[in-house]
Amino acid sequence: MQQSFKLSLGPFQGITDVYYRKLFQAHFGGIDKYYTPFFTGIYKVSGRSMRTHEIDPAWNITSSLSPQILSRDANEIILFGKACKDLGYNELNWNMGCPYPRVAKKKRGSGLLPYPDLVEALLDDIKKELPLKLSIKCRLGYEDPHELDELIPHFNAFGLSELIVHARIGKQLYQGGVHKERFAQITEAISTELVYNGDVFSKASFENFQNQFPGIKHWMLGRGLLADPFLAIDLKNACNAGFDERKEKVLRFVTDLYLQRRKASGERLTSLGRMKELWSYMVWSFSEPQTAWRLIRKSNSFETYEQAVAHVFEKLDWVGAGYSRFKEC
Ligand SMILES: Cc1cc2nc3c(=O)[nH]c(=O)nc-3n(C[C@H](O)[C@H](O)[C@H](O)COP(=O)(O)O)c2cc1C
Repeated sequence: MQQSFKLSLGPFQGITDVYYRKLFQAHFGGIDKYYTPFFTGIYKVSGRSMRTHEIDPAWNITSSLSPQILSRDANEIILFGKACKDLGYNELNWNMGCPYPRVAKKKRGSGLLPYPDLVEALLDDIKKELPLKLSIKCRLGYEDPHELDELIPHFNAFGLSELIVHARIGKQLYQGGVHKERFAQITEAISTELVYNGDVFSKASFENFQNQFPGIKHWMLGRGLLADPFLAIDLKNACNAGFDERKEKVLRFVTDLYLQRRKASGERLTSLGRMKELWSYMVWSFSEPQTAWRLIRKSNSFETYEQAVAHVFEKLDWVGAGYSRFKEC
């Protein structure tokens, strides 16, 4: 049966890098569209921040990836957009959701949301020269979930390719619940494709959101998919594998990712830090999350990491749906 919705994977700085995305797609799939973690500080296209596999067309499928930028400088956004266009991309994503106070207090990320006049001026400048489509990922506000109301007319006037709304406010960081009623109120006002993001952690939570927002046809997954990489194919009813088979697939995926990152880092231990970031979500899909996390967290060499991973897969069961279990703790 034809699916009536589209799924994308939200960007996670330090986790969903090009290696994760490529291997995730090869091992699990179910995701229709990806976004890079944010780029920032683009002063020239030949600069260091651009010379990476992250948006290299040899490593990515340009038609299903949106490079993301965190900026409040129209020239920088245009410069990055032109470079992405030259690489073959057809859409740029602007981050207006990053909640961290050191970012927000400089009116970047979700810190832009309380300033509709500034956003309007930036959009006017960007529109004149941006050579590819613009999508925006934002929250409902920074201090107050009504801030978005004043931005919507500017977003509509620009003609965005899509608006992704993480239904929290910046001040919440990643805590507290999502503002479902507030999200429902904005759905009518937005003239472009509206994408829902926030707390889709299991099939049950997805069905609840679908019932509450029947007009939404594009959903962005986040921590739920990091914890259980089968989430997307499960939402699409496209996986019959039992828990033992799933566990084997997860082992192959984390092993490939570890080896790829080790190689890409020039055998540096920084690659372990990145694996641990992912594991901090994935442990919740094992039968004893605390045991798994204790083992992985304390590993400090390739050898101890490999032993810890072997131990987790030997001793613990894969039970899936990790982030919904974490939320219940
Ligand atoms: C560690 C971490 C890094 C993140 N990095 C980014 C980022 O680079 N760009 C972005 O737009 N969102 C970023 N996010 C937000 C996620 O993409 C997503 O919007 C958020 O987790 C809400 O979705 P969820 O409730 O399904 O997890 C990050 C979140 C976390 C926890």
